[in-house]
Amino acid sequence: MTYNILQLEQEDDILTLTINREKSLNALNHQTLDEINYFFGQDAANYPKLKGIILTGAGEKAFVAGADIKEFVGLDATAGEMLSRKGQDVLFRIEQFSKPVVAVVNGFALGGGCELAMACHLRIATEHAKFGQPEVNLGIIPGYGGTQRLIQYIGKTKAIELMLTGDMIDAEDAFKLGLVNYVLPTKAEAISKAINLIQKISQKGPVAITKVIESVNAYFQSDTNGFESEIQKFGITAGTTDFQEGAAAFIEKRKPHFKGA
Ligand code: CAA
Repeated sequence: MTYNILQLEQEDDILTLTINREKSLNALNHQTLDEINYFFGQDAANYPKLKGIILTGAGEKAFVAGADIKEFVGLDATAGEMLSRKGQDVLFRIEQFSKPVVAVVNGFALGGGCELAMACHLRIATEHAKFGQPEVNLGIIPGYGGTQRLIQYIGKTKAIELMLTGDMIDAEDAFKLGLVNYVLPTKAEAISKAINLIQKISQKGPVAITKVIESVNAYFQSDTNGFESEIQKFGITAGTTDFQEGAAAFIEKRKPHFKGA
């Protein structure tokens, strides 16, 4: 697949994916969803040394202002269900990705944009970022996992208010509610913080990082017992040579040299 919307930039084994539809406030049309899906489902495997991913929107105004409303024309019940399933599948791929994915929320993160940010493992917002699930203004509901993930992050009390009113919240409130990890003045500073976080995480045991992501996700999977999942993944990490190296390095008072196995 050729990328027409996603821009990929690699530096020091960190990939920045920029959704580049600035004139439409980076709204998620089918093509954008397809490209994100292709990247996380297939292309990412071509970057074996990847430390992590930064996901952001082009320009200064929007991260992603939602699903592309212009593509909603003619949508019926069946097509709506298919679109929701497609969006959810793509976002699950991000949430289940084996390396850290950090959203740099550089402006509006509304509807599908808020949902996209919530599927990432960490979120760093710029001061002017705004978050919301305004779908009820259009007479629909969030469709890319918003009704579920917003509750996971900020609790039912505030989540249901935001989804019933369609109100937006600013970055400071998003931070206070636990929706974002950090708020920084500018996009450049937010990107720099994302790089620092990914660099820090890349120094840990790679298998352990993947298993933390899987175990945390297991908490929210109704068909999985999270504690049992943790037991199994603890066992897997305990069986790695990286664990032997990590323990030896601690005892020998030196830095560990992890190999990812
Ligand atoms: N889809 C398609 N185009 C969009 C868009 C979207 N979600 N959001 C903005 N745009 C387009 C506008 O149509 C406009 O294009 P034109 O210049 O061609 O008219 C351009 O981006 C700039 O937008 P505005 O002129 O509206 O900019 P503004 O500063 O006045 O307002 C805004 C900014 C408050 C974000 C406003 O654009 C807005 O409310 N956007 C829609 C937000 C929304 O409802 N998102 C949810 C979509 S539904 C969804 O996401 C469902 C789901 O869960 C999957």
